[in-house]
Amino acid sequence: MPEKDFISKQISNNIEKGEVTWQSPSNIALVKYWGKKENQIPANPSVSFTLNNCKTTTKLEFQKKSEKSESFDFELYFEGKKKEDFKPKIQQFFERIETYCPFLKEYSFKIYTENSFPHSSGIASSASGMSALALCVMSLEKELEAIQTNNEEYFYKKASFLARLGSGSACRSLEGELIEWGEHKDIPGSSDLFGIKYPFEVNEVFKSFQDTILLVDKGQKQVSSSVGHNLMHGHPFAENRFAQAHSNLDKLKEVFASGNLEKFISIVESEALTLHAMMMSSNPYFILMKPNTLEIINKIWEFREATETPICFTLDAGANVHVLYPEANKAKVLEFIKNELVAYCEKGQYICDVVGKGAEKVVSIQ
Ligand code: PMV
Repeated sequence: MPEKDFISKQISNNIEKGEVTWQSPSNIALVKYWGKKENQIPANPSVSFTLNNCKTTTKLEFQKKSEKSESFDFELYFEGKKKEDFKPKIQQFFERIETYCPFLKEYSFKIYTENSFPHSSGIASSASGMSALALCVMSLEKELEAIQTNNEEYFYKKASFLARLGSGSACRSLEGELIEWGEHKDIPGSSDLFGIKYPFEVNEVFKSFQDTILLVDKGQKQVSSSVGHNLMHGHPFAENRFAQAHSNLDKLKEVFASGNLEKFISIVESEALTLHAMMMSSNPYFILMKPNTLEIINKIWEFREATETPICFTLDAGANVHVLYPEANKAKVLEFIKNELVAYCEKGQYICDVVGKGAEKVVSIQ
């Protein structure tokens, strides 16, 4: 589906005011997206588990302006309080999506947003936040335009397309349980423009996979992911890394179908460490892991070897550790986490999450 197909067509309804609320989850990549081209086009394909409990709820209130002005008009409330420092990100999002949603300047908006996970937990809220907002904008478009958007497939494709323009990985948060984003020659329907539901067989074990997020460092990241992505330009290992992501997606096809956890573990952990290896070998170089990140990784390896439990870790662009394991091993792994890993978490904090089915509309347009 080419980019021009996402430009909204004729507006047929006149809507004065209303509101809509969407709840959208975070996601955790198994094959990582790291490196991008212009317009949020990924340098390599990625695949992620959609999460269930870490989510953002966003209410969009809209009121038609008396006449269209040249600026975007919006107020932003985070957990009930006006939040000026989030505004530039939303402004940039509106600027990037205006071509596709030209009605935005005809409305003034109030955006109310809150996260289910603790504030400044070190968990990025950009994926859940941008996907929730993109869905709210699409609900408004659907009302205005009535015809084209009245097609569920198009609705989710365009919402994912818009979310990508807010934050790349946000395009993988709208649906569940496994979402692939980025062109791959052997994945039909794959696109650099939006995420798609993983189109091949997925073994039941992955549909209830657990993700316990250990909060190692709740502080602000020293290097933002957009800076990190840009450092892949001219990176000495970039081309090999991008090729490796394609090949890992190939290998995962059989793994997802068969439920071969040994192979799953080796691909997922290698992806996590490669992501951080790219950071450590870029120019300038940087390290986002903390000593406790490594302590946890070693403990997980020891536990896996001693008990033969199919548990592994992955990392996003930060120090926190995502511990992944099948639901069947939940009791044993949680006991291990409480007894041996919580000591490495800041203030002993961790979040229990599980693979989920994607975003939900909480309140329809009214
Ligand atoms: O969506 P961004 O630009 O914040 O990038 C996210 C990158 C990683 O979380 C490190 C990997 C991924 O694929 O989610």
